Amino acid sequence: MVDMKDLVSLCKRRGIIFQSSEVYGGVGSVWDYGPVGVELKNNVKRAWWKANVYSRSDMVGLDASILMHPKTWEASGHVASFADLLVDCKKCKKRFREDKLKGKKCPECGGGLTDSRRFNLMFKTAIGSVEGQSTTIHLRPETAQGIFLNFPNVLNASRKKLPFGIAQTGKAFRNEITTGNFTFRCREFEQMEIEYFVRPEEDQKWYDYWVNERFNWYINLGIDKKNLKLRPHEKDELAHYAKSCHDIEYNFPFGWSELEGIANRTDFDLKQHALISGKELVYFDEETKKNIVPYVIEPSGGVDRAVLAFLIDSYNVEKVKSQKRTVLKLHKDLAPIKAAVFPLLRNRPEIVEMAQKIVKDLAGDRYVVYDDTASIGRLYRRQDEIGTPYCITVDVQSLDDKKVTVRDRDSMEQDRISADKLESALIEKLKEA
Ligand code: GAP
Repeated sequence: MVDMKDLVSLCKRRGIIFQSSEVYGGVGSVWDYGPVGVELKNNVKRAWWKANVYSRSDMVGLDASILMHPKTWEASGHVASFADLLVDCKKCKKRFREDKLKGKKCPECGGGLTDSRRFNLMFKTAIGSVEGQSTTIHLRPETAQGIFLNFPNVLNASRKKLPFGIAQTGKAFRNEITTGNFTFRCREFEQMEIEYFVRPEEDQKWYDYWVNERFNWYINLGIDKKNLKLRPHEKDELAHYAKSCHDIEYNFPFGWSELEGIANRTDFDLKQHALISGKELVYFDEETKKNIVPYVIEPSGGVDRAVLAFLIDSYNVEKVKSQKRTVLKLHKDLAPIKAAVFPLLRNRPEIVEMAQKIVKDLAGDRYVVYDDTASIGRLYRRQDEIGTPYCITVDVQSLDDKKVTVRDRDSMEQDRISADKLESALIEKLKEA
């Protein structure tokens, strides 16, 4: 398995992930996605949206705001319960989560610890333009509440019948104390969440369905099954809103850890918001002519954690003719760049021109790049390191036979393909498993 140090270094070198505000010394547990990373991240979200919205008739999308009415977080229980118990070391002044400590001494310097204090994880900010009259609001710590508050709007607009779901991806913020492990636990991150509304008596059936569905999503996108497992929550670790929860865990280099949680949130959130807002948040059942408050099954995953797991799982180091080759064997749907085009000789204008025309023809619907900044061997290695499935080389012979060499990332086999059939060949190849 990849050493995290090697992965972090590859991510920086190849423009996948950078430390936020690095020129000022960085901000802890906040990360920026570079030119290659933004493509990977967008592809992960696109694959999730395709599987959960476009491929289903029982799901619709939403893009709710990060800033929400302050009462939202009172009703949801986050003001009262979304907190960690923290202790401080009296000697070195470092702060720790009490539940992560093994003994009663500071794990860093052995000093004595203070009594624990509650520390809410939500970031606060102020809304309003008049100083002194602004109101404190929170940056959302989960995207889910935007879905619950929009339940009546979406229901009216979409006329969906139970069971149906609302899907959303977006930023969430948590002032995490235990950080580290690269992008695993960030203070600013993205979630992919579904709130799936069901008849209360059908909750278990849909809970089991979603656990299975979400587990298979990762496998279908190339994660090795032996690196994934399901872990049911113990009663005492369930979130305040959950009746049951399964984590999908991934075998990260730092141990098995949560990739996604699937929770049965019951009717907790809709009832709480109805209670605090005084508005009805119900579904009118045409059969019984009665209002019901649906139960909610919530598959909630992190985009950044999924990206990290896909990077780790696809990372391979191979020996090719006694040389080391690092290659990301990413699923083709996730690959940031679908093809890279090189001129074998960059001092031959006809070859450069032909290569650039190929890029122009192939690009647009997919990300295709041109590169002539190194020798062919180095250009191949560079693209292997970011998981580009195909490299296309234009050589002297191409000028005569109008064919180019297409090299496969995984097998490293090469095909000669007519330049005018390249787009259809690439489309077919990108569909192959
Ligand atoms: N709405 C339910 C909810 O937010 P959660 O288990 O707290 O549940 C869901 O978060 C997912 O969001 C996690 O499984 C993880 O993938 C991601 N996530 C949570 N906190 C995170 C953090 N600090 N950094 C990166 N991802 C995080």
